[in-house]
Amino acid sequence: MIFSPTLNNIEIAISQLKSGNLIGLPTETVYGLGGDARNSDVVAKIFALKGRPSFNPLISHVCDIEMAMQYGEFSKTAKLLAEHFWPGAFTIVVQRKANSEICDLTCAGLETIALRCPNHEIANQIIKGFGAPIAAPSANISGHVSPTSAQHVENEFGDNLSTIIDGGECQIGLESTVVAVFENEVTLLRYGAITIEEIENVIGGRVQIANLKDEKSPKSPGMLLKHYSPNAPLFLDCDKAQEGEILIGFGDMDCQLNLSKTANLQEAAANLYKMIRQADAQKPRAIKIAPIPNTGIGAAINDRLSRAAEK
Ligand code: TXA
Ligand code: MG
Repeated sequence: MIFSPTLNNIEIAISQLKSGNLIGLPTETVYGLGGDARNSDVVAKIFALKGRPSFNPLISHVCDIEMAMQYGEFSKTAKLLAEHFWPGAFTIVVQRKANSEICDLTCAGLETIALRCPNHEIANQIIKGFGAPIAAPSANISGHVSPTSAQHVENEFGDNLSTIIDGGECQIGLESTVVAVFENEVTLLRYGAITIEEIENVIGGRVQIANLKDEKSPKSPGMLLKHYSPNAPLFLDCDKAQEGEILIGFGDMDCQLNLSKTANLQEAAANLYKMIRQADAQKPRAIKIAPIPNTGIGAAINDRLSRAAEK
């Protein structure tokens, strides 16, 4: 059920977490399916409800750097990045602290942990009130389109999720940028709103891009999968649709849905999952998408689209 974000309802969400239940919670990127990151029974429920393969680790959400540093080993560079980009759409993978309370299942048995402090008032109130990290993948069935509104979350899980806190539409609309940081080396694991250039400006050095073929390169298990997919087949770089198909446009063009008439990439990112869902709901023969420039957040949009179009 969807609850408005009153203080009372936020308390309800916190007590659900304390009783070992899952909640749907808003963040600035996408909605999360959250539970106690320390409790393996709870985290097992997250994997089961999403149908997520258990080799794919979850992000632990914290309310500040202090909480993050209780669970991860932050090098100078990791701390610098956290200070610069948190709260925000930025996930940092670091070495797990020895004797960390975070359960193995959250990290899929890896020696590393992914940490993020969301830039969302309600999410932060919930994490702070709960007092420990919340493990939260995007609140969708594994492989589906990510949710950018409370209604999307309800459409995904229905009665199987009793508490969804409504924080309005997600401002960014794409999952966070994920980087691995070991000592001074920063490797991009997932494209997101925060770009490589921004990260390089902060560290004053280069960012590596994870190489799935190189044994030694840090990896993100989630990068390997077909992901973010609607039911209808999706085609990229299109400029028209045939009978029974839907064209999602970008910029000034003739189409049924438009990510941004003014060709604004931020607006396109915020509209992307919503419009893919809208198009899919009409059960078209195919969804076609206009070309998106690969600059700024456009790189993240194209990353998601190429995975969504994967056969
Ligand atoms: O914006 C977001 O990041 C959203 C909101 C809810 O915070 N969450 C999200 O979670 O997108 P999820 O589970 O859909 O994606 C987490 C990504 C996956 O690609 C996963 O493989 C990667 O982070 N990841 C998590 N822990 C990792 C680790 N220890 N090492 C490498 N990659 C990791
Ligand atoms: Mg996801």
